[in-house]
Amino acid sequence: MKKLFAVLGYPIGHSMSPIMLNDVLSYYEIDAHYHPFKVSPDELETAIRGLKAIGISGFNVTIPHKSAIIPFLDGVDDLALSIGAVNTVVNDNGKFIGYNTDGYGFIKGLNPYISSFSDKKVLVIGAGGAARAIYFTMAKMKPFALDITNRTVTKAEELIEACPFETRSKALSLEDAANHLNEYDVVIQTTMIGMYPNISETPISLRNLNPQSLVCDIIYNPLDTKFLIEARQKGATVQNGVEMFVYQGALAFEKWTGIFPDVKRMRENVLRFLEA
Ligand code: ATR
Repeated sequence: MKKLFAVLGYPIGHSMSPIMLNDVLSYYEIDAHYHPFKVSPDELETAIRGLKAIGISGFNVTIPHKSAIIPFLDGVDDLALSIGAVNTVVNDNGKFIGYNTDGYGFIKGLNPYISSFSDKKVLVIGAGGAARAIYFTMAKMKPFALDITNRTVTKAEELIEACPFETRSKALSLEDAANHLNEYDVVIQTTMIGMYPNISETPISLRNLNPQSLVCDIIYNPLDTKFLIEARQKGATVQNGVEMFVYQGALAFEKWTGIFPDVKRMRENVLRFLEA
């Protein structure tokens, strides 16, 4: 029987996951379909029960359900539980088990540049949900230092405090971070600043950026944010949000099928969609 996979979100119309994942399902000749479902927060619990009743094989959840879904699952893996957000659910013999592939997706996307973080000083910009997934997962990689800068410094302090994995971390104001930017090997922009339509905004000044650094932005619309354009002009290596998106999807696909898919194919598909 044909299997069903899905993504639940609200709104969901602009999700690229169906295009990306239906393509690899057919590429690996898996008899399955991946469908987007618009589910309002009020209907999340009912939707989860419905998916269980029909025996869905697995699904993704996106904004605004990543935290709200946790009480409706049968189990949640430790990392996702500490992050407080789930983006991937596996149907394990009738039990819905939640995972978070966002952080690992981000880190896997850095593999071409960085294999070990033990000598790397990393700066995360932002302290929202995306920052939390990246920060907690990165903390497990034991970087030399892992600092956070945020407009509201207390939120960065709270995030560091909440992390169950020991790291050398400090919370910085945006101004402090800009002044000390030359100390960092990796800079990760996790806020929505610079996303379409506000494409002329950047979160911090890059005047002191180390030209040897790797600068990442989790935004993929536009592909080149002003932040990345400025970083590239300073000589840094840059990476946009397509890699994190592709790898979080690849890791979800692997959890459902046991196959780690062809990420090059997935990336080309996403880029074709974004450039169209
Ligand atoms: P997400 O879950 O997508 O990461 P979020 O939880 O709303 O989003 O977090 C948004 C992040 O962007 C926060 O770090 C926020 O800073 P505050 O904690 O100070 O609110 C940051 N942010 C949003 N708009 C900003 C702006 N105009 N200037 C600086 N930081 C901003």
